Amino acid sequence: MDMDPFQMFDDWFAEACAREPSDPNAMALATATPEGLPSVRIVLLKDHGPDGFTFYTNKQSRKGEELAANAHAALAFHWKSTYKQVRITGRIEHVDDATADAYFASRGRDKQLAATASDQSRPLPSRDIFLERIAALEEDYPEGDLPRPAHWGGFRLIPDAIEFWEGTPERMHHRILFTRTGSGWQEGLLYP
Ligand SMILES: Cc1cc2nc3c(=O)[nH]c(=O)nc-3n(C[C@H](O)[C@H](O)[C@H](O)COP(=O)(O)O)c2cc1C
Repeated sequence: MDMDPFQMFDDWFAEACAREPSDPNAMALATATPEGLPSVRIVLLKDHGPDGFTFYTNKQSRKGEELAANAHAALAFHWKSTYKQVRITGRIEHVDDATADAYFASRGRDKQLAATASDQSRPLPSRDIFLERIAALEEDYPEGDLPRPAHWGGFRLIPDAIEFWEGTPERMHHRILFTRTGSGWQEGLLYP
């Protein structure tokens, strides 16, 4: 068959972007502590290709701290409109500063304010404190872009396995697993 998993992802993602009513780039990101305690949450895919799958977040968040201690993660996409799922596992690298700066600058002021003001995943004694932080930032930066805070950046998952699952109405679902083999990819089917 000799399929390219990245081309296959591109095709499935393009189909999801055309059909999914919202956030076709939403994916579950699973991380774990070095002891193996897992956690999972949704983040948005912001870039992808043979170099990996990129998302942005607060590096001091729970996921950021888990990735700093254990740089392995898993992703799962589920597109209801296409009845398809993609699962990806691999190791995590940081996106370089220039790329993170450019993406942060493209996000718009409201998102820049919120990302800068948020101590993501830390206890927040009251919502007013968060709003006051945003108001203070608006005074410090009355207009234009904010600089990317050091605690916020991008992570790229370099896949070692990518599985494509396609549902069928009669429940004889189809699964293809691609596993990295040094320079290439080995491809095989899995029982559904
Ligand atoms: C649709 C959707 C998209 C989200 N996208 C992101 C994202 O790209 N980056 C991010 O840090 N959090 C995103 N979140 C919030 C995360 O799910 C999560 O609440 C937050 O990152 C804190 O996770 P943590 O405490 O496990 O680190 C998103 C949530 C939803 C529902």
